[in-house]
Amino acid sequence: MRYGPEILRQSDLLGAISQDEGRLTRTYLTPEHRRAGEHIRAWMRDAGMEADFDALGNVVGRYRAADPGAPIVITGSHMDSVVDAGKYDGVFGILTAIAAVKDLNARGTRLPYTFEVVAFGDEEGVRFGFSMIGSKALAGTFDPALLDRKDAQGVTLRDALVAFGGDPSAIASLKRDPRRVAAFIESHIEQGPVLLNEGLAVGVVTAIAGATRHLVRVTGLAGHAGTVPMGARQDALAAAAEMVLFVERHCETRPGLVGTVGKLGVLPGAVNVIPQDVEFTIDVRSADDAVRRAAVAAIVTGCKDIARRRRVAVTSMPFFAADAAPCDATLQRQLAGAIAAHGIVVRHLPSGAGHDAMMFPAVAPTAMLFVRCGNNGISHHPGETMTAEDAEVATAVLLHFFEHYEPPAS
Ligand code: GLV
Ligand code: MN
Ligand code: MN
Repeated sequence: MRYGPEILRQSDLLGAISQDEGRLTRTYLTPEHRRAGEHIRAWMRDAGMEADFDALGNVVGRYRAADPGAPIVITGSHMDSVVDAGKYDGVFGILTAIAAVKDLNARGTRLPYTFEVVAFGDEEGVRFGFSMIGSKALAGTFDPALLDRKDAQGVTLRDALVAFGGDPSAIASLKRDPRRVAAFIESHIEQGPVLLNEGLAVGVVTAIAGATRHLVRVTGLAGHAGTVPMGARQDALAAAAEMVLFVERHCETRPGLVGTVGKLGVLPGAVNVIPQDVEFTIDVRSADDAVRRAAVAAIVTGCKDIARRRRVAVTSMPFFAADAAPCDATLQRQLAGAIAAHGIVVRHLPSGAGHDAMMFPAVAPTAMLFVRCGNNGISHHPGETMTAEDAEVATAVLLHFFEHYEPPAS
């Protein structure tokens, strides 16, 4: 094998760079982000690219075409992780691209376009509560008002960025010119079991599901756990529990719709005090934007009904929304051609997970290659796995695609 074992070795190395003892957590603008980015930058340079951190802490590698006016093709994925993450989510898409460039460079092959490999600093949104900071900036949709958002320690994104060595005033300049960018291609582990169950190493993504996220606050009345009669309580947690089950019930009855409450906090949080304040998040996704919007509206109404009945107050604030992103038909066909050229049955499948690629259809035709993961497809979990053989096949397929891809004449 030429690429797979090295990609897994690099994934192991990055997987050990964590801000948590004994588990992988690597969030945006931390010393661990810096260390992981430095390794990636060194690997990019070793592969023959010019590479450096940009103003937002993304690491950008460039494998230049001979013609400085040539179009640009961007690939890449994210180097941040969720809390207690697997080693391949995001990182695989960066490492496979570096392996592909290293191979091209070793053969002295230049492409008819400048090839940019981007390791995005933030996709998961763990630290500041909103996601895809890097890819939004490249797409020109980063809202500068977000620089005032704080992390759990009260540090603003602006201050964290300056401390990292970034430059908040240069974010607008990261926007890529849609007239220059011919395509955005991301490869990523599937994070599900479809390819595994069908015995296929890779597949072509048809569309990325859209997502809406809300922060819900429920306010009841604290009181003595031993003295307030059951019928007289305004228990914010009991109301929130009903709301959580409402989300589950609503989403499980509609095909293609998923809803998750992934975070919940209770105050005052004492064994003998009735909960007064509860905050929780809702994440609703569907490949059909109308279905997602209708579900969010129904969930908000449902939460209000529950609150009224239980005599508590509820507010619900959206903090993230991304429309579903269809993948470009021509690029899908070309990726399918590269897969077929390797003797693999072509499987098309949608992505339920969000990806940096979602931000790019406004800039350029966008597509994604999925790679099989093992262990039932588990992801956002330390049990996430993939094999060197699959990393090898995926890199070979990508190389085939990139070497045959010709940017349309502009
Ligand atoms: C990112 O991994 C997401 O889908 O939330
Ligand atoms: Mn993820
Ligand atoms: Mn990811």
